[in-house]
Amino acid sequence: MAKTRKSSDSNPAAARTIALAFTGASGMPYGVRLLQQLIASGQRVWLVYSQAAQIVAKQEMDLVLPTQPRECQRMFAKQFGASEGQLSVYGRDDWNAPMASGTHAPDAYVVCPCTMGTLAEIAAGTARDLITRAADVVLKENRKLILVPRETPLSAIHLENMLKLSRAGVVILPPNPGFYYQPESVQDVVDFVVARILDQIGVPQQLIKRWGEED
Ligand SMILES: Cc1cc2nc3c(=O)[nH]c(=O)nc-3n(C[C@H](O)[C@H](O)[C@H](O)COP(=O)(O)O)c2cc1C
Repeated sequence: MAKTRKSSDSNPAAARTIALAFTGASGMPYGVRLLQQLIASGQRVWLVYSQAAQIVAKQEMDLVLPTQPRECQRMFAKQFGASEGQLSVYGRDDWNAPMASGTHAPDAYVVCPCTMGTLAEIAAGTARDLITRAADVVLKENRKLILVPRETPLSAIHLENMLKLSRAGVVILPPNPGFYYQPESVQDVVDFVVARILDQIGVPQQLIKRWGEED
C-alpha cells in the first residue's frame, strides 16, 4: 500500500518527530541504542514504555526505567545529551500525549522491541493504552509504523497477525542480525539491527558499513 509522505521525507537529514515505544520483549538494547541514535541525529523523540518493558530493561541491561515519565525524560536526556525539548517521555495512560491524536501524529513510530501481545493488540486495533493508540493513529494518518517483534519460534497466530499488519502497510522488522559483515561484539550485532531501523525511517546512520561500500 502506498504511504502518504510528508515533505520532510524528501530530505532524509531533516529533523523529524519519531515516536518510540519499548515493550516487554527481549531486545531492550536495540530500543535503547535506537533512542540514543535518534537523539544524536537531532530527531525529536516521543518515548513511551510498558510495565513489562521496565522488567525486561532491568533484567537485560540492569537499567531502571523510572515509573515517572518525567524522571525517565531527565535520565535519558542527560545520558544522551538531548537538547531542551528534544525528548519527551509519556506515561502509557497519558491521553494528553500528542501521539494519542491524529491531529499531532509523529512522522514515524517504532515499537522496539515489540512483544507478541502488543503486536496482536495493534493488529486488532484495540488502542487500549498510549502504545497501541499511537499505532492506531499512525496507521490511520498514513505515517510509517515499524514493529520490531521478538519471539521464537513463531506460532500461526503470530504469523497471521504479522501478515495482517504487513498488508496494512506496517513494516515488520524482526531483529535478525546478519553475520556476513563479521560482527566482533554484541554491540555490533545490536547496531546491525538499529541501522536497518534507521534506514527505514530515513535517518542517516554510520553504524554499519553498507554492502559494497569501500572502506
Ligand atoms: C525477561 C522477559 C523476556 C520476555 N521476552 C519476550 C519476548 O521476547 N517476546 C514476547 O512477546 N514476550 C516476551 N516476554 C513476555 C512479555 O513481557 C509479556 O507478554 C507482557 O505481558 C507484554 O506486555 P507489553 O506488550 O505491554 O510490554 C518477556 C518477559 C520477560 C519478563
